[in-house]
Amino acid sequence: MNYPKSRLRRLRYNNNIRSLVQDVHLNISDLIYPIFICEGENIKEEIKSLPGQYRLSVDNVLVLCDELIKLGIKSILLFGISDKKDNDGSIACSEDSIIPFAIKKIKKKFSTDILIMADLCNCSYTSHGHCGTIENNDVDNDKTVKTLCNQGLTLAKSGADIIAPSDMMDGRTAAIREILDKNGFEKIPIFPYSVKYASSFYGPFRGAVDNSLENGDRKTHQMSYKNSIEFIREIEQDINEGCDAVIVKPALSYLDIISKIKENFNIPIIAYNVSGVYSMIKSAGKDNLIDETDLIMEILFSIKRAGATAIITYSAIDVAKKLNNKDVY
Ligand code: PBG
Repeated sequence: MNYPKSRLRRLRYNNNIRSLVQDVHLNISDLIYPIFICEGENIKEEIKSLPGQYRLSVDNVLVLCDELIKLGIKSILLFGISDKKDNDGSIACSEDSIIPFAIKKIKKKFSTDILIMADLCNCSYTSHGHCGTIENNDVDNDKTVKTLCNQGLTLAKSGADIIAPSDMMDGRTAAIREILDKNGFEKIPIFPYSVKYASSFYGPFRGAVDNSLENGDRKTHQMSYKNSIEFIREIEQDINEGCDAVIVKPALSYLDIISKIKENFNIPIIAYNVSGVYSMIKSAGKDNLIDETDLIMEILFSIKRAGATAIITYSAIDVAKKLNNKDVY
């Protein structure tokens, strides 16, 4: 049927009809908020590269969690900032290191009111900033997997609800699953960053956790954005190794990948709207070039439309406020 009988504008006539036919939704329960935790007390230091995001000491993390719960945000992703670093990141395997310490405090205060995802990587804890143990000028896969397993077990023992390895080592999902199961943590899910591209979009994050590389890059383990089907093997491998959901990072610029995962695999997709996107929006907003919140909503909806189940976003607080205040969105 063609114009003039068919007029597609009829379904855009007003807000009510637009929301009636809307088929993509963004809920506060879709949002996962990343938190950067540092040692010390009473610290709330704005991260220069991520305006509006903070390095927080654990006491202030507890205050933040209270605010998140009131807004309806129930999931957090924790990153550690450590003054103590060593050659292979094994400092993070200690139960006294920053994230295990923080998890215990958060769990004690909030119990099941908040879901704690713990990012699992060595890069915040190695003196050279690489994601693992360096051998012959490269990150050694199998040695790194061993450290990751130990750190993963420590995170689970501290009370982490979900373990999220972001290192991109081969075989880490199976190895972490095995050590968790052996120690009675068979109920703890693993959400690996299955598809993680070597991306310039991570720039502002590296300023936040101080894991810039002394030399080299992450291209021997993170994926190349010049490949269009490699992601299939990464996902298949992680599913075979027992992962429970997959994380895709970055989300923006990779919506084609998210949409193909949705079509081809039966597994929840967690998309990470990364630091570079956040900081670009902040800069453009400062210059009044765009409306920050409107733009972030458009981006998050595009990520949902592509097929994401949930989204890790630095904008979670602003978005939750917007979703709480508007009945149409
Ligand atoms: C650590 C890690 C990174 C990010 C999340 N976990 C950086 C990296 O891999 O270099 C980036 C997140 C962001 O940019 O928001 N492995």
